[in-house]
Amino acid sequence: MDIEPVRIEEANAEAKKAGVTGRVRFAVQDFHQAGFGEAAVVTIYLYTRVMTKLKPKLLAELKPRARVVADQFKGMGDWKPKKTVNKHRHPVSLWIVPSKRKEQGQTVSEIAANRRRVQYARIEKRRASGCEE
Ligand SMILES: C[S@@+](CC[C@H](N)C(=O)[O-])C[C@H]1O[C@@H](n2cnc3c(N)ncnc32)[C@H](O)[C@@H]1O
Repeated sequence: MDIEPVRIEEANAEAKKAGVTGRVRFAVQDFHQAGFGEAAVVTIYLYTRVMTKLKPKLLAELKPRARVVADQFKGMGDWKPKKTVNKHRHPVSLWIVPSKRKEQGQTVSEIAANRRRVQYARIEKRRASGCEE
């Protein structure tokens, strides 16, 4: 989706060239009006400030563990990407939506800190039981 009709015309022309018109659909739409609830993966190519506006909607609507993949820009603030690869023209980053049930109401930094605490506790427990050096 894109709010600029010309971008959708370009996308349709590219799909035709690639022979995939039956498998993709592009729409002139404002992402503020779109529903993301059913998406397993959202791919975006948005400027940083626009991505920052989309972030709360993605976190509110996407299911836990859904993936967000962004080309070039990083506008998720303290929601850090799980991975960034630099194999293409631009860096490509991956974010994974945290579990809402357990982590609702926490900031992304708090969620990350809690996960680290749980990981360290597991390592310590295994060390103490002699399972790990
Ligand atoms: C970095 S450009 C990407 C252009 C094009 N999609 C491409 O892949 O080359 C960002 C695009 O986001 C679109 N955009 C900005 N705000 C939007 C919104 N609220 N809903 C949908 N598209 C939006 C702009 O129209 C612009 O085309």
